[in-house]
Amino acid sequence: MAEALLEVKNLRTFFKTRNGTVKAVNDVSYSIYPGRTLGIVGESGSGKSVTAMSVLRLLDANGYIAGGTVTFAGQDLAKVSTQEMYHIRGNRISVIFQEPMTSLNPVFSIRRQLSEPFMIHQNMGKKEAAQKCIEMLRAVQIPNPEAVARQYPHQLSGGMRQRVMIAMA
Ligand SMILES: Nc1ncnc2c1ncn2[C@@H]1O[C@H](COP(=O)(O)OP(=O)(O)OP(=O)(O)O)[C@@H](O)[C@H]1O
Ligand SMILES: [Mg+2]
Repeated sequence: MAEALLEVKNLRTFFKTRNGTVKAVNDVSYSIYPGRTLGIVGESGSGKSVTAMSVLRLLDANGYIAGGTVTFAGQDLAKVSTQEMYHIRGNRISVIFQEPMTSLNPVFSIRRQLSEPFMIHQNMGKKEAAQKCIEMLRAVQIPNPEAVARQYPHQLSGGMRQRVMIAMA
């Protein structure tokens, strides 16, 4: 079998709260192989999002990885610098956030928000990034992507907004 692209081993992610330590993730392990999909199912509050956020090091300020390892393409993500993490996040690993209404910025057009990752992570110019934005909207089967790119989040349906988040990832 090919080498795992992402390997999470014995991950523990805790949160410090006024009422003590919340053990949100306690000893989770899984591997994802190139080209494969892994679904994690569990009741609300069972730690699915916290597990994903641990991988990306996007935990709330009171959260911390209390144990375990996260290996991505042979690299221990717990040990890479914040700077390196900026490079990996949005470039090699992306997250599709839930609740697009709070993740999308209401005052910027879809084009502006979808262009940003291309400009930041791939050094594209405005024009090229805008073209990529249309391409990504088309890839998630948004009809009439040119028009949608000019619109603002509140002008889209909930399903379209979620697809914009997928396009962004
Ligand atoms: N900043 C925080 N401080 C304290 N506890 C937190 C914090 N963030 C998350 N938690 C707790 O971590 C646990 C796991 O939450 P998580 O968001 O991972 O659930 P989930 O499995 O993604 O649920 P859902 O299916 O509803 O999205 C919950 O009990 C939650 O209250
Ligand atoms: Mg969740």
